[in-house]
Amino acid sequence: MSFCVLGTGSYVPPKVVTNDDLAAFLETSDEWIRERTGIRQRHVCETESTCDLAYEAAVAAMAQSGVKAEELDMILCATISGDFATPSVACVVQKRLGAICPAMDLNAACSGFLFLLDTAAGFFARGRVKKMLVIGAERISRLLDWDDRSTCVIFGDGAGAMVLGEGDGYLASQLHSKGDDDVIRTPVFEGKSPFNRREQENPYIHMKGQETFRFAVNAMTHDLKNLIAQAGFAEEKIDWVIPHQANIRIIDAAKKRLHIPPERFCVNIDRYGNTSAASIPMVVDELNRSGKLNRGDLLALCAFGGGLSSAACILRW
Ligand code: UT7
Repeated sequence: MSFCVLGTGSYVPPKVVTNDDLAAFLETSDEWIRERTGIRQRHVCETESTCDLAYEAAVAAMAQSGVKAEELDMILCATISGDFATPSVACVVQKRLGAICPAMDLNAACSGFLFLLDTAAGFFARGRVKKMLVIGAERISRLLDWDDRSTCVIFGDGAGAMVLGEGDGYLASQLHSKGDDDVIRTPVFEGKSPFNRREQENPYIHMKGQETFRFAVNAMTHDLKNLIAQAGFAEEKIDWVIPHQANIRIIDAAKKRLHIPPERFCVNIDRYGNTSAASIPMVVDELNRSGKLNRGDLLALCAFGGGLSSAACILRW
C-alpha cells in the first residue's frame, strides 16, 4: 500500500517582481536573467508569512479532494523558510484548518517535497494513515541577500500542496544526499548567548552557482534515468516530467539526455522563479488544473538542491 493523489492546490503572494524591477536597484538586466535562467518574474511576500502561503495552498488542495480537516491523519510540510523555529509550519496549518492530527516539517531544501513524499509513503505502508496533507512552502525572499545579484534574481515565494489517500500511485523513488556546506548554505542567526564565540556569518543563501548547476544537471539526468529503468519502464512511457524549477538551462540539458519528448517537461519557472521545496507541488497543481492530466498517466518528479540533495519518484496519476 502506498498512496494516490486526491487533490492539489497552490498559492503565491500577489506581489509580482519583474526582472526590470530588480534592475532598478541591482546591476542586472531583464536580458541577462531571462537568457541565463528563463525567469521573467517571481512572486514575493510583502505581509504574507510562510504559514499563510502553506495554508492557502492547503485549503485549495483540501477543497479539490473533498477531504475534511477532521479526516486528516497527518500533515507534513517541506520548507527551509518556516516563520518560527517552533511551531512548525505544519503545526500552524493544522491549527488554522482545525485538524487534530500530528504535524511536522521536513528540511531537505529544494528536494524537500520529494523527501516528504517518500516519508509519506512510509506512513501509508505501515497503515499508520489513511488521509494525509503534504505541503511545500517557502518564503525564500526572507533568506536572500538582496544585494547579491547571483542569488536574489533566481528565487521566488510560493506554496503547493497535495491531499493523499490510500492507493498504489507511488511506484518508485530515489533519495540522495551528499553532505556539502561549501556549495550551498544558509547560516542561522547565532543568537545572543553571552558564551558564544562563533562569528555571525551573513545569514542568507550562499551558493556557488556553477558548481550547483553541474550537480543539478548530473543529478537530474542520473536520478531520472536510473529510477525509470529501476521501475521497469521505457523512458518514452513517461507522460510528464515535473522537474524542480531552478534554471531553464538545467531542464533543457536534461531534455537532451533523456529519451522523453521535450513537450512532456513541465515548466513554470518563467512566472515563479525557483520556489525551492514549493516548486514541484506548484507545477503538479498547475498541470492538474490545466486538465491535461489523465488517470493512469505516469509522472516522473525530480529535484535537487541544498544538502546537497537530490530525489526523484514516479507517480501513477
Ligand atoms: O534550487 C537550488 C539549486 N540551485 C540551482 O540549481 C542554481 C544553479 N546555478 C545557476 O542556475 C546559475 O549558475 C546561475 C543562474 C546562478 C548563474 O548563472 P551562470 O551562467 O552560472 O553565471 P556565472 O555565475 O558564471 O556568472 C557569469 C557572469 C559573472 O560575471 P563575470 O565574472 O563573467 O564578469 C557574474 O558576475 O554573470 C555575472 N552575473 C550577473 N550579471 C547580471 C551573475 N549574476 C548576474 C546577474 N545579472 N543577476
